[in-house]
Amino acid sequence: MEKKINKLVEEALQELGKASKLNDLMVLKAKYLGKKSQFNDFMRELKDLPNNEKPKVGKLVNIGKNKINHKIEEMKEKIEADKINQKLKEETIDVTLPGKKIAQGKKHIFTQTIEEIEDIFVGLGYEIKEGPEIEEDKYNFEMLNLPKDHPARDMQDSLYISEEILLRTHTSPVQVRSLLENADKKPVKIISPGRVYRKDDDDQTHSHQFGQVEALVVDKKTSLSDLKGTLLLAAQKLFGEERQIRLRPSYFPFTEPSVEVDVSCYKCNGTGCSMCKNTGWIEILGAGMVNNNVLKACGYDPNEFQGFAIGFGVERIAMLRHGIDDIRLLYTNDLRFNSQF
Ligand code: DAH
Repeated sequence: MEKKINKLVEEALQELGKASKLNDLMVLKAKYLGKKSQFNDFMRELKDLPNNEKPKVGKLVNIGKNKINHKIEEMKEKIEADKINQKLKEETIDVTLPGKKIAQGKKHIFTQTIEEIEDIFVGLGYEIKEGPEIEEDKYNFEMLNLPKDHPARDMQDSLYISEEILLRTHTSPVQVRSLLENADKKPVKIISPGRVYRKDDDDQTHSHQFGQVEALVVDKKTSLSDLKGTLLLAAQKLFGEERQIRLRPSYFPFTEPSVEVDVSCYKCNGTGCSMCKNTGWIEILGAGMVNNNVLKACGYDPNEFQGFAIGFGVERIAMLRHGIDDIRLLYTNDLRFNSQF
């Protein structure tokens, strides 16, 4: 009987050692340890043995069963480890395969244009200063030399929240805010980008909401030639180094004198084409010397201080530079349009 048991254990261990699937282990477990296994037969035969042999054989059976159980566990671990190793082998990454291209987002042409204008002026030592979009009538109009009944208010048909509060119609109120803040009257040199609002009809060239960048310099010896030099530099940076500028007299209540600024046509180089309506010049922005009334309203003595101001229309600059013929394209967020810039 002892021999039979040892042989059976030997045979079981050998067979288990060859198992390569978990399922095989289950089948072998049933075969060697299940109800119908030979071990069970041994247990039944045990009671017919002489009493002095019973413990010895019983012990042998138990040791045999333990060995088989142990082997089953060992094989289970091995099979699982093999499986993982196999999987890892199959899933190794081929780093030499070309990667998938991920479409990368970028800044909208509106933002790009503002940032380009900012860069030009920051390069000249200007400080960026933002103002509120919900503004007081006082700053938006009154202190900019546009008193309550001034007819030039009509040019900026406005969105009022109350009698004295409105959505700012231009970035010029930041001029007033910057001068008022500057109590010790140090030279002021700021640029102010932002959104402005008007009760305009929306069409190809107008929007009730658009962007402006204001520039302001106030110092003791700021002259019209400083303004002209600054405008020429900005025009050349934005439209090409070969560009020239032309100043035409204009009117803004907050500047005196006021100018409309043209740049020589960058399409025909000034010889005349459809872009410049055969004039050789394209209007780009308004500017001027800060009106004495604005200086006075902000506590500056016009006999001591002078300054100039510039107002860029962000969309206008972007449209001119990139040949965009409808302002609404800048607001509709069509990727076919946006991704061109
Ligand atoms: N604020 C003017 C507007 O919105 C634009 C402008 C013109 C600003 C002349 C200026 C300036 O600073 O000097 O129509």
